[in-house]
Amino acid sequence: MDRLFIFDTTLRDGEQVPGCQLNTTEKIEVAKALEELGVDIIEAGFPISSPGDFNSIIEISKAVQNPVICALTRAVEKDIEVAAQSLKYAKRKRIHTGIGVSHYHIKHKLNSSPEKIIERAIAAVKYAKNFVDDVEFYAEDAGRADNDYLAKIIEEVIKAGATVLNIPDTTGYCLPHQYGEKINHLVQRVPNIDKAIIATHCHNDLGLATANSLAGIMNGARQVEVTMNGIGERAGNTSLEEVVMAIKCHSDINMHTNINTKAIYKTSRLVSSLMNMPIQANKAIVGRNAFSHSSGIHQDGVLKNRENYEIIDPKEVGVEESSIVLTARSGRAALRHHLERLGYDLNPTELKDIYDRFLLLADNTKEIKDQDLYELMGQSYKEKGEIQLLSLKIQIETNQKPQAQIEMRINNKKLKTSSEGNGPVDASIKAVKKVIDREILLDEFLIQAMTKGSDDIGKVHMTLNSKNMKYHGFSANTDIIKASVEAYINALNKIPMRLK
Ligand code: KIV
Ligand code: ZN
Repeated sequence: MDRLFIFDTTLRDGEQVPGCQLNTTEKIEVAKALEELGVDIIEAGFPISSPGDFNSIIEISKAVQNPVICALTRAVEKDIEVAAQSLKYAKRKRIHTGIGVSHYHIKHKLNSSPEKIIERAIAAVKYAKNFVDDVEFYAEDAGRADNDYLAKIIEEVIKAGATVLNIPDTTGYCLPHQYGEKINHLVQRVPNIDKAIIATHCHNDLGLATANSLAGIMNGARQVEVTMNGIGERAGNTSLEEVVMAIKCHSDINMHTNINTKAIYKTSRLVSSLMNMPIQANKAIVGRNAFSHSSGIHQDGVLKNRENYEIIDPKEVGVEESSIVLTARSGRAALRHHLERLGYDLNPTELKDIYDRFLLLADNTKEIKDQDLYELMGQSYKEKGEIQLLSLKIQIETNQKPQAQIEMRINNKKLKTSSEGNGPVDASIKAVKKVIDREILLDEFLIQAMTKGSDDIGKVHMTLNSKNMKYHGFSANTDIIKASVEAYINALNKIPMRLK
């Protein structure tokens, strides 16, 4: 099996997206998570673009040990010098330099000629070689470039010392067979191609980024450039999780990566929440519904044998288990599964009776929750919305942990609670938890601004996990700490409790 190198550009191509900007501390958190995930190269930023980017590369270089740290430049000497300075603390370093190679870029962006572009590319690679051994060259807009011209420039930059050749489909234009042919053309026509590694870098404008990257790999590329959750310019970049799992599921591709796939889900959630980029429910691998089954036939099949309807074991990507959602389309097998989980053991006649009543209820409800099941079984439960937030006071003093004081009403009883925490939200949630007698994990916490401006309303989504069931809470408030506590309580109130 050949080794496929994973080059993650979440912190560069991903971070360019409006609204996704991270501060240095957050970038370090993402970089460490990427290191734990097992990526080979982290593209940490475009250092000439801002002092913030420069400083982040310095700090990421200090914080991360294993992956190569890469800095992006244009084919401009000053860019390359600044990149080299930003990488001074990196244990393993790479400069990523390049220039546009399509007719559009050469003529309408750079106002140059194909020959002059080759000269600039050679000069940039040679200049970068004065600072680092590992120089990656990107042929921007290679997706729309002439393949013979591309082969020529690639041959020249390898002679100049490039170690990796990035062939970006910058505009996401190619079809998989075209992108595959492009890589194959380089493998066949560039005489010194064995001296360097070919990299794919595909954008998703036609929804083909993963397919194109795989076509590139199958035609000889050995590095794939990706972002977590596929975030990136416009429609995004190739998703790390999609390529890695496609390779893992198809052993016939004969490739392996260093990715610890069990860390995919938590890294995906971290990136989504720090970058304020919600993940669409049906996103492959990491979407909320990626391992959720709702139709009766599928549910029955999955309960008989998971592999009937799942090509990936959710545990492989760090998801606890598949979920069987109870809706009007669910069959008896799914209902029995959930009732057994709640401790009910029914004979076929009892199940039939409950199933008939379940269908009547399900016809009028989007999704049947545990609370509804308990009610179907004739149990009584505490009322919904039993916990109410009455007041919230936060105290923040320099050099001290924030303190939260909370007043709540629980089952018509008023009570006060307080806690300190790593931040005001952490302190508040710890305070609420103190008075809740349930084992609860916070699975997801997402804050989004509605518009712009400091008086904006913050929307908060939280997902809590209790006994392997997920409960979603939501709130919106100009005070994001209050919105966070309200969202937490909103989700808490959905967790059913049996009365003693
Ligand atoms: O899409 C692209 O062409 C890029 C390059 C700068 C590598 O992101
Ligand atoms: Zn890109």
